[in-house]
Amino acid sequence: MKLIFRSILFVFLLVFSCGKMMSQSTTVVLKDNWRFSKEVTEEAFSVNFDASKWEKVSVPHDWAIYGPFDKEWDKQVSAIEQNGEKVPTEKTGRTGALPHIGTGWYRNTFSIPEFKKGKKALLIFEGAMSEPQVFLNGKKIGEWGYGYSYFYIDISKDLIPGSENILAVKLTNMPFSSRWYPGAGLYRKVSIEVKEEESFVQWGTFITTPDIKENTAVVDLKAEVSGNNLSMVTQIKDAANTIVATQKVTEIKDGKFHQNISVAKPHLWSPETPYLYTAITKLYAADGTLKDEQSTKFGIRSIKYEAHKGFSLNGKVTKFKGVCLHHDLGPLGAAVNKAALRRQLTILKDMGCNAIRSSHNMPSFEQLELADEMGFMFLAESFDEWAKPKVQNGYHRFFEEYAEKDIVNLVRATRNHPCIVMWSSGNEVPDQYGAEGLTRAKFLQDVFHREDPTRPVTVGMDQVKQTMASGFGSLLDVPGLNYRVHLYEEAYKSFPQGFILGSETASTVSSRGIYKFPVVQQKEKQYDDLQCSSYDLEACSWSNVPDEDFVLQDDKPWVIGEFVWTGFDYLGEPTPYDEKWPSRSSYFGISDLAGLPKDRFYLYRSRWNKEDKTLHILPHWNWKGREGEITPVFVYTNYDSAELFVNGKSMGVQKKNNSTPQNRYRLMWNDIKYEPGTVKVVAFDSNGKIAVESEVKTAGDPYKIILEADRKVIKADGDDISFITVSVVDKNGIPCPTAVNELQFKVTGAATYRAACNGDATSLEIFHENKMKLFSGKLVVLVKSVEMAGIIQLEVTGKGLQKGKINLKSEF
Ligand code: GAL
Repeated sequence: MKLIFRSILFVFLLVFSCGKMMSQSTTVVLKDNWRFSKEVTEEAFSVNFDASKWEKVSVPHDWAIYGPFDKEWDKQVSAIEQNGEKVPTEKTGRTGALPHIGTGWYRNTFSIPEFKKGKKALLIFEGAMSEPQVFLNGKKIGEWGYGYSYFYIDISKDLIPGSENILAVKLTNMPFSSRWYPGAGLYRKVSIEVKEEESFVQWGTFITTPDIKENTAVVDLKAEVSGNNLSMVTQIKDAANTIVATQKVTEIKDGKFHQNISVAKPHLWSPETPYLYTAITKLYAADGTLKDEQSTKFGIRSIKYEAHKGFSLNGKVTKFKGVCLHHDLGPLGAAVNKAALRRQLTILKDMGCNAIRSSHNMPSFEQLELADEMGFMFLAESFDEWAKPKVQNGYHRFFEEYAEKDIVNLVRATRNHPCIVMWSSGNEVPDQYGAEGLTRAKFLQDVFHREDPTRPVTVGMDQVKQTMASGFGSLLDVPGLNYRVHLYEEAYKSFPQGFILGSETASTVSSRGIYKFPVVQQKEKQYDDLQCSSYDLEACSWSNVPDEDFVLQDDKPWVIGEFVWTGFDYLGEPTPYDEKWPSRSSYFGISDLAGLPKDRFYLYRSRWNKEDKTLHILPHWNWKGREGEITPVFVYTNYDSAELFVNGKSMGVQKKNNSTPQNRYRLMWNDIKYEPGTVKVVAFDSNGKIAVESEVKTAGDPYKIILEADRKVIKADGDDISFITVSVVDKNGIPCPTAVNELQFKVTGAATYRAACNGDATSLEIFHENKMKLFSGKLVVLVKSVEMAGIIQLEVTGKGLQKGKINLKSEF
């Protein structure tokens, strides 16, 4: 089978407010004035209900992230079958040990002056965790099942014009409904769109770029509309906002306008050149009145999946250097925040990553917008369960009723993003077994194809032998293998597609800045401190270390790339300590829960980032008590060879070689005996000339606090965040890699203290309290803007330490 998926240009359907003069279409984001309560015993939807005592919150909001951590929350006693467990055991921290279970209510009182009788109004939820029941002015107007789905409700008949309206939303998180921290509440945007009766249908516009040549590209735009006797004018603007094409169309067929618009000398979208065009589509009545207007960013690009050749973007074979990401943002919980997402992508970009998989559910709109702008390909996933359960109250409860609706909304709302290059209908679904599973796989894939014929569909398969035998793997557009490096060859031969995707790889575990001895490769290793070694040699029974995937990626042209589990640590799933309290977040991340890179970051960077050089030494060199003991030194670098010096003495030259996967990708000096001082590495270029050097020194006692902001100027919009990395150094300015001092944070001026995170998976310190202990010498403080411009100061103090201060600025 040869699959050809040609380009999609896309319109992200962003209907925007055109102001009072042309009030044909308005978006009102319900961000402020929310009241929230978890303590409600009676039904709180009625108009007369008094919610004045409820907590005042703004949305996005996650009610559970404020803690406290407690092992009793959602304590699951189970055997995790997909991990090969047979006997049920107590799993504390599996869903983050945060209070997300139960019912929460939100209420918002608002009025929409733009709304008049005869207009249309849609209430849009970009995700609501979970099982939302929605009431307007005391009446139930809709509900949904899956907490990750986008959905909207037509409220035209229930919205009262010229008066206050009361919106109430009830959300319920059942115990045993997730395998990770799902968050709780209205964790994504809620908005209302007001339109004329004659207008663009919500999520009904689809732009593709079916024909791209050097001198011209065809932009194919289909827009569903309600109404007759209309005309549509589309203007295409380039990135400099210059109009590069205009076209008018008057014929509506099957409720749709259809245009083929030529764009001369197209700039193609790719991770390296994330060039975006904008399509402005205007809808006019016969008398020339403007009825609706949309502004949609899109990219011009082609994608193709071919047997034995793999995946091509714009005609160039490209491998996915991807990471899987859960949706939580560490200390912010599930509440979506664009600054936090942008920071994640900035870190991943520096690593050389070019693709994201939204495991195992629908990505936020904000994340897709950023992926378009910053240049990341996207594998947008939908489900972790189909009809067969993994957890007692998982998605299987909704599958029959909702699966198709969930996919339709996913595809229609996001298909115009050029970043999306593949859909996933499921992850490790137990339905890989049984004939009905095959039927479901086909059904879901067909729904994706019907809604979007331009992109292929994958499933992350862990039961590879089974799916080879049953035909499950053969029917997928893209066979995705989760782990199972030993089965790639066999799967390639057995499946007809002619390529394999590493839909989920590695699941190596490590704790930032923690090293264990002796240094040996092992599985399921546990230590008394509930940490994992950062020598990057530890994995789970089903998983492997990164180098084993690198071999497949490099040696097999038919392997089209990998999505590493995971780019960042996430709340919940504290494998290999899921039976040990107080572990409450993952160890899988390439960077930790605070977004601080672990050593593994540099291993991937040395392979993936082709622009910048990497030369990273591990471990740290503060090993009081290990004098004279074997303390191996690893170097992650894109150079092939290097010489190591300990206190000026050469420890020899190491050169990458093919004897083992580790020797191929790492430089390792396994016999170094620890003595305090300086470890220096000198890397050689391909001519054997010294290219670059790096060193690590033994630090003295912590002396001074150092602050470093990712951004010193933030927007005064009440949402933007500066992430400040806090570390301590000794008297000579050498970073103290083992410091665990407790620090206090104070923010003054035009911002608020939002949270801190140190990346320690066993820490029960609460993120939003203004104190925290360093973990391996570091932590990150989040300072959030308010709607006021000005100077911001963060002061960090700690007993016996010279304090740290940093000035930031917020601007409108
Ligand atoms: C996979 C699964 C992920 C995560 C991972 C941990 O099997 O798809 O969600 O659980 O294992 O290694």
